[in-house]
Amino acid sequence: MNFDELIDRRGTNCTKWDGMQSATGVSAQDAIPMWVADMDFRAGDFLQDATRALLEKANYGYFTGEPEMKRAVAWWMQERHGWEADPAAMFSTYGLGNGIALCLQTYTDPGDEVIIFTPVYHEFTAKIRNAGRVVKESPLRIENGVYHMDLDALENALSGREKMVLFCSPHNPAGRVWSAEELAALANFCTCHNLLLVSDEIHHDLVYTGQRHLAFPVAVPEVTDRLIMLTSSSKTFNTAGSRLGTVTIQDPDLRARFSATMKALNISPNLLGCVLTHAAYSQEGANWVDALMCYLDGNRDLFVSGVSDIPGVKAMTMQATYLGWVDFTDTGMNMTEVINRVTTQARIAPSIGAEFGTGGESFLRFNFAAPRARVAEAVERLQAAFSDLQ
Ligand SMILES: Cc1ncc(COP(=O)(O)O)c(C=O)c1O
Repeated sequence: MNFDELIDRRGTNCTKWDGMQSATGVSAQDAIPMWVADMDFRAGDFLQDATRALLEKANYGYFTGEPEMKRAVAWWMQERHGWEADPAAMFSTYGLGNGIALCLQTYTDPGDEVIIFTPVYHEFTAKIRNAGRVVKESPLRIENGVYHMDLDALENALSGREKMVLFCSPHNPAGRVWSAEELAALANFCTCHNLLLVSDEIHHDLVYTGQRHLAFPVAVPEVTDRLIMLTSSSKTFNTAGSRLGTVTIQDPDLRARFSATMKALNISPNLLGCVLTHAAYSQEGANWVDALMCYLDGNRDLFVSGVSDIPGVKAMTMQATYLGWVDFTDTGMNMTEVINRVTTQARIAPSIGAEFGTGGESFLRFNFAAPRARVAEAVERLQAAFSDLQ
């Protein structure tokens, strides 16, 4: 576990580096990619061992092992989150983006509205629109530098066509860990307005010391009759390429409907995803994540304080995730100028805040899950690119 090791991911077909030029216009030759949400760290030994064992067996045909993998998922949820998740209530999807799309197909009809709390992971909007459903934004409010849901404003804006809330917990971007009271208020809102609650908790393990992520069924057990839980080992262990997510549905009727969609589309798990998820959800995996979070904590301090030293630039306080959320409003510059400085002067590719919906317009998102030396370099480059601001 040497998170300081600089590994060269160029030439490995990884989107973050090898797809950067075509997606962002910034060349990976000399620029630092801080966009895609994956990490520039070597995979844990327990993942390598499991993959090696797979290679040695040289059996890539149809396979068993999904039940054991689901038991490992249940073990992890109990051990790390105090959530008693029933393996019989789990489905394995093709990543969690697929899990979201399947929820939309199963529980909503074209034209239905789906509520999201913006700014939020930009793919929520894309998936809702791709399905022919309608995005209903509920902008988060910033109070004392922290995001809050505004359920009163949302209530006043309801059209009656809303069917579902697509919730992100912890929140991406800005790494907000929601409190028991906030989760209870949202659950109550969903009950009052007969909304399904899809809780995307993909970032649940990436929580800093002193914070506790509350899995929705732990925080509000009585909401399980309208709750769909989305989890995956992929953010925690950097295995997004293995495309495996877990959708857990406690309510029998909701589960039967989801099962029908899975059957209609003939979705079954893939071998590598099963092997990696099973290996990740282990004691070795737990030790690795604990060490990772200590390391990321140092990166967070370095990044948040370093960019906040630039006059007019504010990085939001983060309770979870490695996705720094930086507000450029008080620089007085328009975002075209800000983005130009970040990409062409600092030579950094961030994610563009406007893509995260209302409230994200003046922000950029920076992924600092990289060896510390590279994060330090990114901070220096940003300070230099805005050194004229006093
Ligand atoms: C909140 C959230 N959900 C889902 C995903 C994507 O999941 P997957 O790669 O399994 O499709 C991401 C990726 O960044 C995310 O941040």
